[in-house]
Amino acid sequence: MKALTWHGKRDVRVDTVPDPAIEHPTDAIVRITTTAICGSDLHLYEVLGPFMTEGDILGHEPMGIVEEVGSEVTSIAPGDRVVIPFQMSCGNCFMCGQGLQTQCETTQVREKGMGAALFGYTKLYGQVPGGQAEFLRVPQAQYSHIKVPEDGPDERFIYLSDVLPTAWQAVEYAGIPDGGSVTVLGLGPIGDMSARIALHRGHRVIGVDIVPERLERARGRGVEVLDLNDHGDLGETIREMTDGRGTDAVIDAVGMEAHGSPGMKVAHQLTGLLPSSLAEKMMERAGVDRLNAVYLAIDIVRRGGTISLSGVYGGMADPLPLLTLFDKQIQLRMGQANVKRWAEDIMPLLLDGDPLGVEGFHTHRIPLEEAPGAYEQFQKKQDGMVKVLLDP
Ligand SMILES: NC(=O)c1ccc[n+]([C@@H]2O[C@H](COP(=O)([O-])OP(=O)(O)OC[C@H]3O[C@@H](n4cnc5c(N)ncnc54)[C@H](O)[C@@H]3O)[C@@H](O)[C@H]2O)c1
Ligand SMILES: [Zn+2]
Ligand SMILES: [Zn+2]
Repeated sequence: MKALTWHGKRDVRVDTVPDPAIEHPTDAIVRITTTAICGSDLHLYEVLGPFMTEGDILGHEPMGIVEEVGSEVTSIAPGDRVVIPFQMSCGNCFMCGQGLQTQCETTQVREKGMGAALFGYTKLYGQVPGGQAEFLRVPQAQYSHIKVPEDGPDERFIYLSDVLPTAWQAVEYAGIPDGGSVTVLGLGPIGDMSARIALHRGHRVIGVDIVPERLERARGRGVEVLDLNDHGDLGETIREMTDGRGTDAVIDAVGMEAHGSPGMKVAHQLTGLLPSSLAEKMMERAGVDRLNAVYLAIDIVRRGGTISLSGVYGGMADPLPLLTLFDKQIQLRMGQANVKRWAEDIMPLLLDGDPLGVEGFHTHRIPLEEAPGAYEQFQKKQDGMVKVLLDP
């Protein structure tokens, strides 16, 4: 089959690789009909190289048709239309029972001290072949799927794999009071969708980015947008807009590709020069994250408010201003999205009209063969690219 594989920093290719096959009785094979590129894939493309192996198949936002199931998979059958969550979870351990599928005790990557395995996402998360491919082997398939109706285009359901539950959890974790306000940092797919969900719930939403068309897209839906480049002191601007206090909550939908802290660039370049075992240690221990968005969030949130981090961070020794966090009495919630926890809550918004505008959410739909160029464009934010769907 054809699959998008990792070959090195900023080097992904479409290769011919062996078709996946059932390996365990709890596996299923899904023929992918639509798959997407995520901002998380950009971390693999750029900074997480030390955790990758040449030939790894990327992708964790797939949907398609079940081709084959293992002997213990009875909840889906060949021909069913399914969206596959980006994490694998069993559905019957202690963590899954709490709605913490990202901590599933069956798929946890214990040798790395990490939570549930993720598709197409580095050695830290189990090195499971991903879904930017014609076929995908789905472990724990008895539970790791979301059945969707036969009617309606893939565009309507594809975001259940990641964007929708991630944005939903970001808003849930933000704990915005009724009629309250939230600042969304970053208006990529995750920030944009978080803003739409917060608006849908009647909150006031301030959105921040630096890419003009992303700001425009959010403005078009009713977000009050601010271009980071126009506001040297963003915290002050937002306090002026909110009776001097700051917003009740801040959602960080930026993560470790943040712009705005040039010092960190040096660290990124450094790890690129080190042998990968050393670079791996440095990434984990020395903290090469770009924390600009977190620092902004701490400044913007009102005293007693909540910061919800959905952007992915990776360092183990990142300096956080605990004095300010403590003094402002800030609550901090974060983590990978527990996809199955939220899927049922989201589904009605996909079946009854399209209040979140999912069908027009993608900006590009292209053949899988063109994915390498799309990675580059998506990273450089060229050609108005916000969300790319791939046809395998
Ligand atoms: N928690 C989860 O389960 C989960 C799931 C999916 C994605 N993510 C993470 O969410 C983040 C966003 O994903 P995406 O697909 O929207 O990616 P993206 O890269 O398209 O979006 C990030 C946006 O942030 C903007 N930005 C950069 N620096 C900024 C700053 N200092 N202030 C404000 N905006 C800034 C960029 O211009 C860009 O538009 C990534 O870190 C991704 O890994 C987390
Ligand atoms: Zn993703
Ligand atoms: Zn589990």
